[in-house]
Parts: sequence; structure tokens; C-alpha cells
Amino acid sequence: MFPVERPRRLRRTPALRRLVAETSIAPGDLVAPLFVAEGRDEPRPLDALPGHVQHTVASLRAEVDHLHRVGVGGVILFGVPARKDERGTGAYDPDGIVQVALRALRDDVGDEMVVMADLCLDEYLVHGHCGVLAADGSVDNDATLPLYGATAVAQAAAGAAVVAPSGMMDGQVGAIRRALDDAGFDQTVVMAYSAKYASALYGPFREAVDVAIADGGDRRGYQQDWRNRREALREVRADVAEGADIVMVKPALTYLDVLADVRQAVDVPVAAYQVSGEYAMVMAAGANGWIDTDAVALEQLTAIKRAGADFVLTYFAGRVAERLQG
Ligand code: PBG
Repeated sequence: MFPVERPRRLRRTPALRRLVAETSIAPGDLVAPLFVAEGRDEPRPLDALPGHVQHTVASLRAEVDHLHRVGVGGVILFGVPARKDERGTGAYDPDGIVQVALRALRDDVGDEMVVMADLCLDEYLVHGHCGVLAADGSVDNDATLPLYGATAVAQAAAGAAVVAPSGMMDGQVGAIRRALDDAGFDQTVVMAYSAKYASALYGPFREAVDVAIADGGDRRGYQQDWRNRREALREVRADVAEGADIVMVKPALTYLDVLADVRQAVDVPVAAYQVSGEYAMVMAAGANGWIDTDAVALEQLTAIKRAGADFVLTYFAGRVAERLQG
């Protein structure tokens, strides 16, 4: 008999295909990034992130309630402060916008859904870098760490179950873990953006949080070079050694090789972030009628899980969860 191998047998019916599927995706595997702005009366739509807005605290609460009802696993908050300064004060002020939002969500959803806070200073600093500057204008790694620690404590105190350092400073996970433990927050989870690349795919996000890096600067001095693969494992291992509970690879689709490597290298859960530019590309092609937006979103998110992610941060979270629920 020829051919001997007949893999098509297992593809004959939808029931067979479902039974032998190696990967699946559910609403609970998705985390929705959300933006909340200080001092705004109305939500502001974001051109480059169709379907997303800078929320008021009230509209944020309504959105989180909806995401909870469609089964989304978690949300991650980004703050847009009314004022920026040289020390990023708004990030760790107990009345900073993210802390206000976290307290509201703690009242609304408690621990029924995982409420996360992105932990960085770029939205709060006048120059838009992820850390404070040294006298020579460079980003001062070690002077930034205590401010990250203070931010983690403020976020935990306001009700964040997970804090997610995204600034790519060396030693940030250890500094945050120590600050949290010292303040009595030993149950607060640290999800590290461990392998975060200096990607051109963050463009729409910068509009969403009103961040422009001063003097045409970039983040290549602290985020990873996208020519590198092995270097990601060095970052991931360091974060796990410093106490990261979850590690992340970001962006997602252009880094599936890195994601697969990381999955092999560590035993902690691995997250992936399908970033703003990845979402915008799919939405733009879909709006032109060139691709089927929902089909492509589901295919990409499933591929990200197949490569090794346990869960995915994605601007498609709400939309895909609605479809998966039927
Ligand atoms: C930094 C941060 C960024 C994103 C998440 N956290 C932007 C950056 O590093 O410049 C990007 C997320 C996205 O593009 O969706 N606070």
C-alpha cells in the first residue's frame, strides 16, 4: 500500500481534529492591556489601536466588568498621568492614577480576575525613558531601582495581584522583590518583562500613553537587540534567580524562536506580549478587507501558545474571548 503515512486520516472530521489538537486557547489564557488617564472626563479613542481608548476610571471599571463576564483571565493597567516630572513621582504616589484605578478594581472584581500593573517610569518622566537620568544624560540603572521598588509597593498596597516590571534595568526584579517583601507584600507576584526587545512594534502604544522619547532617543541602551537570541536566556535566567514568578517575551510573533527557547530553559510560567504594533497591523489589514481579522487573531494567538506561552497579553483579549464564548 502506498502511501504508508496517511496523516490526513486524523483531519477527516472536525471532531477528530478537535480531539487530536495539540494546542488550545481559552479566554482565561488572555490578559487585556488597558490604559487609564488621570483627569479625563471622557474616554479618548486611540487612532492606531482601534477599539481601544484612554479610559477614565469609570469607563475602565465598565470595561473590566465586561472582560470579566466574557472570561478574560486578567488585565494589565498602564497609567497616563496628568503631569510628568523628572522623578516619575506619579508612578509611586499612593494617589497616582494607576493606584486609584487599582483600588476601584479591587472593590469591583477583587481576586476573581488577575489584576496586574505594568511597572515602569516612562509614562511619568518628562523625557520618556524608562529610568531616571544621570548627569551625563544616560539612563541611570541603579538610581532607578529604588523608584521601581517604591512603585511596586504602591501598586501592591492599592491591590495589584501582579506587578510587571517592563523597564529592562539590570537587577530590577531583585530590587522589586526585596521592596515588596520588606513592606509585607510577600504574596504579590512579580511578572518580569524579561526578554523585551527594542522593537519598532511599540509605536501605537506610545500614542496610547502619550510618551515621546526626548531628542529622538530610543531604548536600545536597555532593551534587547533584536538580532540576538541567546541573550534572551541570560536575561530570563537572571530574572528567575532574582525571584521572578513569571517571565515574559515581548513582542510575540517575531520572537517565537525566543519563546520556544525560554519555555525549554525555565520551569516558571512563560507569558508573551502581542504588542500594539502587532495588533495594529492585523486590524489595519482587516479594515481593508485584505484578511479576516478574527481568524488571523485566533491563528496568531494560538501560534504564540504553541511556541510555548502559557498565556498571552493581547489587545485582542476582549474580542477573541467574545468569539470563543460563541
Ligand atoms: C514600557 C512599555 C512599553 C510597552 C509596554 N511597556 C513601551 C516601550 O517599551 O517603549 C509596549 C506595549 C505595546 O506596544 O503594546 N513602559
